[in-house]
Amino acid sequence: MPEKFTVLADRFSCHAVPIIPAAAGASAGAVSDTLARPLQDLRISLTDRCNFRCVYCMPKELFHQDYAFLPRGALLNFEEITRIARIFVACGVRKIRLTGGEPLLRKHLENLIEMLAQLKTPDGSDLDLALTTNGSLLARKAQSLRDAGLKRITVSLDSLDDATFRRVNGADFPVAQVLHGLDVAHAAGFGPIKLNMVVKRGMNDQEIVPMARHFKGTPFILRFIEYMDAGSSNDWKMEDVIPSSEVVRRVAAHMPLEAIEPNHPGETAERWRYLDGGGEIGVVSSVTQSFCRDCIRARLSTEGVLYTCLFATSGHDLRALMRSGKTDGEISAAVAHVWRERADRYSELRSTKTAPAATDRKIEMSYIGG
Ligand code: GTP
Ligand code: 5AD
Ligand code: SF4
Ligand code: SF4
Repeated sequence: MPEKFTVLADRFSCHAVPIIPAAAGASAGAVSDTLARPLQDLRISLTDRCNFRCVYCMPKELFHQDYAFLPRGALLNFEEITRIARIFVACGVRKIRLTGGEPLLRKHLENLIEMLAQLKTPDGSDLDLALTTNGSLLARKAQSLRDAGLKRITVSLDSLDDATFRRVNGADFPVAQVLHGLDVAHAAGFGPIKLNMVVKRGMNDQEIVPMARHFKGTPFILRFIEYMDAGSSNDWKMEDVIPSSEVVRRVAAHMPLEAIEPNHPGETAERWRYLDGGGEIGVVSSVTQSFCRDCIRARLSTEGVLYTCLFATSGHDLRALMRSGKTDGEISAAVAHVWRERADRYSELRSTKTAPAATDRKIEMSYIGG
């Protein structure tokens, strides 16, 4: 196996164990970071594997058959994931999003959903339990996920044109199967289902208007995502980014739009509504208009490493704390300590420079989730 891939995998699994403050005890309660941002969202990656090889995320030249994915024993098991989730909920988390890699590849996922769906916030409410998927297995899984208690689904969909879709997903996967999965998910009661389209110049930007037209007036909310300098594998260049302002201009030229208020503070997408009542679209502008100021998201990798930013170069090993017998109170104190020290605002710093702000190797999005 080529040396560079071994190093990549090792580096992801080699992280500092967070400090447990001496006053560890009862659960930490709500915590805010150095920029007064509360900890409210937790995104949990369930696997670093994916059956797609999207050109902007897991290019197949790098993520080939000899790529060193995490060994099974490194993954958090469902009890460990649920325990960490419970600890985060006690620290203020209200929303949990399951990601990957491709989370539907995780065996018996329904069992985990059932376990997470039972968690309650301190005021007794249900969690907002969501999942992001590439949709390839959705037709088979949507009903059982719904029955297990999953509330919301977001599906990645970069093109409606079959040839483009097959090329972008790097696995020659047909778009018709994902579209069928969407219908099954809708019939199973998920709604509104959000669709994430990563827009990259020359890759799929010709699909912006056809995608908007296709999903206008349907129960699906299409969101255009600016191509980001995530990870270290995709050879990102600023010229490849189509600013959201241009996306909105292109769509509005055919189907007039007006801006509308966010659903909640800290929402990643800016919302636009069709003037003729055909529903809404969203644009996620993390490159040209960063939203770090309201970033309330923590990320947990497949192997239990806590990252406080999507663009982090290192994290905090919560699995080590769990597997060395620390109590919930101790782990909760460690999480609160990490969050209180947090100062991340990568996109904000990068967008002023229009070039990658990190020089160190960043974690891959397939490892930490989108
Ligand atoms: P909702 O729960 O529906 O509000 O989901 P969300 O807006 O958090 O959406 P989702 O998880 O689908 O995120 C959409 C896209 O925004 C992701 O695929 C990423 O490309 C990007 N994104 C999400 N969170 C962050 C973040 O914290 N930082 C940056 N820079 N980009 C993010
Ligand atoms: N830029 C923007 N979004 C990305 N995703 C993965 N890689 C990138 C990138 N380089 C997001 C997409 C996809 C989700 C799983 O991760 O939104 O839908
Ligand atoms: Fe897989 Fe999603 Fe990455 Fe595509 S973007 S390779 S579907 S994890
Ligand atoms: Fe949050 Fe980091 Fe994304 Fe900024 S770049 S919004 S701090 S995850």
